[in-house]
Amino acid sequence: MADFPTVLVTPQARARWMRLDTAQLLKRFFFCERSLLLAYADWIPRTGPLDIKNGLANFLWQNAETAHSLRNRVFELRFPSRLLEEEGADRVLVELFAAAKKSPSVLAFILCVGRVLLPALRDSYEAYLRGSDGIADGPTHRFLRLALQEKNEQMSTFEHWAEAELRRAPALRSDALAWTDAMAGRLAEIGGVGVVPAPAQAVAAPLPGAKEWTTPRQPARDERFWPCRFYWPDVVDPSYPYGEGMQLQVRSAISHLNEVWAIEAGSVILSAFANVLPWEWIHDAARWTYDESRHCRMGYERLMAWGLQPAEIPLGTYIYESASGEDPIYLLGMLFFFETKNIRHKAARAQVFHTYGDTLSEHDMDFDWADETIHAGYGKHWLKELLAVRGEDPAAYDRIREQCGKLVSDYVDTATPEEVADIKKIAGAILARADVTRR
Ligand SMILES: [Fe+2]
Ligand SMILES: [Fe+2]
Repeated sequence: MADFPTVLVTPQARARWMRLDTAQLLKRFFFCERSLLLAYADWIPRTGPLDIKNGLANFLWQNAETAHSLRNRVFELRFPSRLLEEEGADRVLVELFAAAKKSPSVLAFILCVGRVLLPALRDSYEAYLRGSDGIADGPTHRFLRLALQEKNEQMSTFEHWAEAELRRAPALRSDALAWTDAMAGRLAEIGGVGVVPAPAQAVAAPLPGAKEWTTPRQPARDERFWPCRFYWPDVVDPSYPYGEGMQLQVRSAISHLNEVWAIEAGSVILSAFANVLPWEWIHDAARWTYDESRHCRMGYERLMAWGLQPAEIPLGTYIYESASGEDPIYLLGMLFFFETKNIRHKAARAQVFHTYGDTLSEHDMDFDWADETIHAGYGKHWLKELLAVRGEDPAAYDRIREQCGKLVSDYVDTATPEEVADIKKIAGAILARADVTRR
């Protein structure tokens, strides 16, 4: 027997996890982030309060960025690419994260994410950062530290939302708490997210109280605003002027606020095509949805800065509802239709606001223009990809755009004389109020 050479063997914490061990854990985190962001997307059109809707759009983008970094890192670690497409032993865990979309109410969703799923991810990221090697795995440490910070921020925001929803709908409290306990119990049963190899798991039964939701035909809306379908008179009456001066400033802010429909459209299509299109779709759609929430906030903040109250501000639903009963490709087409139709006005409007000395409207419109340029690219690219996946001619993307124009004009034709009169009254009142503010 040959002599074994003398070697140095001492316990070394840095070597706790080998390359493929870390890849396995990062893959698990990727799938948890993916499931979580899809659940956020599903709740956006079903959630009324604007701060929650906008917050979810922001957070789903954060999660998509983390998932994207995780995915790239797993590839860098030379994990077999085919296996990255499969949850493997983590399937039951990933399905539990996905169950957040089946929460029985908004409150139940907020509680189970904020008190169970986010803390589990946060704890695992902390454990990963403690247990992995900051030299060999430095690239992971950089983005996971940011993800950890974001998860802590998400948790405190979810807690804040939970308090508000508990006040708004106290009758839902016991069901929501029971759902959250069931989620926590199941997570403990399967060993949590953790940083140890996943045990082999049998397929788990659905959680008690789980609800199958479909995409809402009408989006949930913040009750503080003036509810309507058509949010400004020019939508239903082409002779009503878009206006100039103060009227143009108010009209632009109302448009920005009413991009709430685009947040909803973005989140619906993100989810609808998540298993049809490649990962890059989710990544782009998350950014798209988040950008639209920023445009919506821009409008809201400007209107508030001018001293207007939500109750006097119209928040409409017509664009979403023009396409929500159709194949979701039309919600994708609707974004593309409005973005390509309106983009040429944005830079010009920013210039006009500049001449008014209205730096905030100019600033918002100019940033919006830059985002919309990205979005027009998303629309064309993904419409073509989706048609190709469906075995249709990718060049027909323009046909979808045209059909969207028709869907929306048909829907506008359903406006009743009462709706037209009401929105004219509301618009007139806002302009009169804004005029008082100006003086
Ligand atoms: Fe937008
Ligand atoms: Fe956009």
